[in-house]
Amino acid sequence: MIKINENYLKLQASYLFSDIARRVAAHQQANPQGDLIKLGIGDVTRPLPDACIQAFHRAVDEMADEASFHGYGPEQGYDFLREAIAKNDFQALGADIQADEIFVSDGAKCDSGNFQEIFATDIRVAIPDPVYPVYVDTNVMAGRTGEAKDGRYEGLVYLEGTKANGFIPALPSEPVDLIYLCFPNNPTGAMATREQLQQWVDYARDHKALILYDAAYVAFIQDPDLPRSIYEIEGAREVAVEFRSFSKNAGFTGTRCAYTVVPKSCMAWTAGGEAVAVHGLWNRRHTTKFNSVSYPVQRAAEAVYSEAGQEQVAELVAYYMTNARYIREQMEELGYDCIGGVNSPYIWIDAKGDSWDFFDTLLNRAEVVCTPGAGFGRCGEGYIRISAFNSRDNVERAMARIRAALG
Ligand code: MLT
Repeated sequence: MIKINENYLKLQASYLFSDIARRVAAHQQANPQGDLIKLGIGDVTRPLPDACIQAFHRAVDEMADEASFHGYGPEQGYDFLREAIAKNDFQALGADIQADEIFVSDGAKCDSGNFQEIFATDIRVAIPDPVYPVYVDTNVMAGRTGEAKDGRYEGLVYLEGTKANGFIPALPSEPVDLIYLCFPNNPTGAMATREQLQQWVDYARDHKALILYDAAYVAFIQDPDLPRSIYEIEGAREVAVEFRSFSKNAGFTGTRCAYTVVPKSCMAWTAGGEAVAVHGLWNRRHTTKFNSVSYPVQRAAEAVYSEAGQEQVAELVAYYMTNARYIREQMEELGYDCIGGVNSPYIWIDAKGDSWDFFDTLLNRAEVVCTPGAGFGRCGEGYIRISAFNSRDNVERAMARIRAALG
């Protein structure tokens, strides 16, 4: 008899964004003439930067010729991309990260979801609340939790983000081994300072813990004093893995390219107390289960680092950040407290009531899709998230409709 992994039965009914898509589809079916504007899932709408498109085309042409054809690539990514990443995203900041510490992949979602596989089932896991649901769900699937009760899984240590702490959680009061952090934060848009990140790195060093640092939205940081990578923080090379993505800065959500940095100095321990390099474990996992991102996609990603690519990516980021500022201003004018939208494309709005009710109000009265904060955890109840990823025209129309519905 084939038996299931019963941990899956502990999961909440469906993945948040699938649940929203289902409600939106039902709304569309009931209102076929409607004109919905989607500011829910953080999916980009602008085309790929021209520099990436040119590189993509050239690489596709290479695939058409036997002399320049590429079959399987190195699982960890081509050197040309890993070197460009190490140099531009880390060494340029003074962070000591080498090309062979970069693992190119098809998404930060997959990497941040899969990374926990290389650790023991009985580790103590600290997860922020509100949070990107992938970190929680993958630990549930792996059997690191008990049942869900009142929206929280037994066995996880929740790091609460609230208005009082600006959605930057405090250090846990009990010892933990694996810590998920995401800055600029999805969903709240909050961004940690150097001093705050230093506290986490110091905590991890003191407790032989590891930080999984999701920096998928780093390109949206506007304040020059804020850290662009956890490796700008002293000691982080020993205790932090960083996830990055080309999805949000360069519009690769449909093209798929991301990377994970695993410094060779990060250690985890056997039950007997013997240190094992996390890099080697992840390399073993990655080479067993992943067979590299396609050559044309990696060439397109490399072009992000060309002079033209850098200018075009900066334009894309500026475009979405203008939307973000506008959304935040409009919601504040309507009397709603907001955070985010300053160093992040997400605006986190105090709905002054139930999140899903507010979601339904915007859907039914304004034909605008947002994301209910409750879907990101108990501390997200009472909030909604609006994403700045859409055209200017759609954002302006959406805000006019929201004003009419709520004003
Ligand atoms: C989101 O809306 O939170 C993101 O699109 C999620 C993701 O990038 O997977």
